[in-house]
Amino acid sequence: MTGIICGTGSYAPSYIMDNNEIASMVETSDEWIRERTGVATRHIIKDETTVSMACEAAKRALDDGGVKGEEVDLIIVSTISSNVILPCTACEVQKELGAMNATCFDMSAACSGFVLAYNTALAYLSGGMYKTALIIGSESLSNLTNWKDRGTCILFGDGAGAAVMRAKEGRMYLPVTHSDGMKGKALTCLSRHTKVSPEHMTDPEYYMQMDGQAVFKFAVKKVPEAVNEVLEKNHIDKKEIAWYIMHQANRRIVEAVAKRLDEPIEKFPMNLQEYGNTSSASIGILLDEMKRDKRLKSGQKIVIAGFGAGLTWGASVMEWM
Ligand code: COA
Repeated sequence: MTGIICGTGSYAPSYIMDNNEIASMVETSDEWIRERTGVATRHIIKDETTVSMACEAAKRALDDGGVKGEEVDLIIVSTISSNVILPCTACEVQKELGAMNATCFDMSAACSGFVLAYNTALAYLSGGMYKTALIIGSESLSNLTNWKDRGTCILFGDGAGAAVMRAKEGRMYLPVTHSDGMKGKALTCLSRHTKVSPEHMTDPEYYMQMDGQAVFKFAVKKVPEAVNEVLEKNHIDKKEIAWYIMHQANRRIVEAVAKRLDEPIEKFPMNLQEYGNTSSASIGILLDEMKRDKRLKSGQKIVIAGFGAGLTWGASVMEWM
């Protein structure tokens, strides 16, 4: 028994912030940002929230998969930037979809979140506990971004990506995931839900802080290792892989991973130029885009790979529906 993705959906806020707008807030330039990151624009919430984007992406995924709300028996939302703590975002999605039969919970796994939500749903579906799952990555990172820090504010964006999964007879591919809490300082953000007095809430620690070079080196080393490991574990040759759908953090990271894997860059689709880094939403948004423009074809083998704060990283193989 395994689980397959049978529908995808995504949502991006209509407000688009380009690099020139960022250059009006911090000392940087469109040219610098494009060259070092590949990012040209990012979508930023105005009226939207993490919950509203998750609901919209989820509705689109259900429509796409021809699945009714009441058929869903598991909803997992991956987010580090929800506007609600209680009830969890997944329960808010349940309410909006009328998915009254679903078990709902959120997970906090930052930029590895979509891969970990996929693996978690896959374990439940292949184990026979549930038949239909909805996984969603939804992020309002602009709320956690320090717009005075040019080392981070150039990178991130907001949005949501979702996928519906069904239990199905077939081969289950085993995932590979790793965590290294010892290296957690490379990417941090303190919660604002503490007993600290309000005037300290705007201190830099309450926004995302990052050692950019450390994260870069970690990603280009660990992601190819995880991809090789997942392929070996499942006895799959690289030639069989149609697409490597990586977390969309930085074009240079994606290019370096392709090089280390000795695979053509054409197998590494990117949309980070439009969205920036949307953390746990990025892989879901890209999957949805590729499904809609028909790049994803039935029977193709796909690797999804995530990495980020924690530090955490991992890769999974799937066969497209
Ligand atoms: N605009 C212009 N100059 C900038 C800048 C910006 N936005 N950000 C940093 N600089 C400057 C630095 O101050 C430094 O100047 P100096 O040489 O005079 O000291 C110079 O550019 C180089 O800085 P550095 O930090 O070495 O740049 P970099 O090439 O490592 O690029 C990142 C910075 C953040 C783009 C890059 O490290 C990165 O992408 N890291 C991975 C981040 C990531 O993907 N995180 C999320 C993972 S989930």
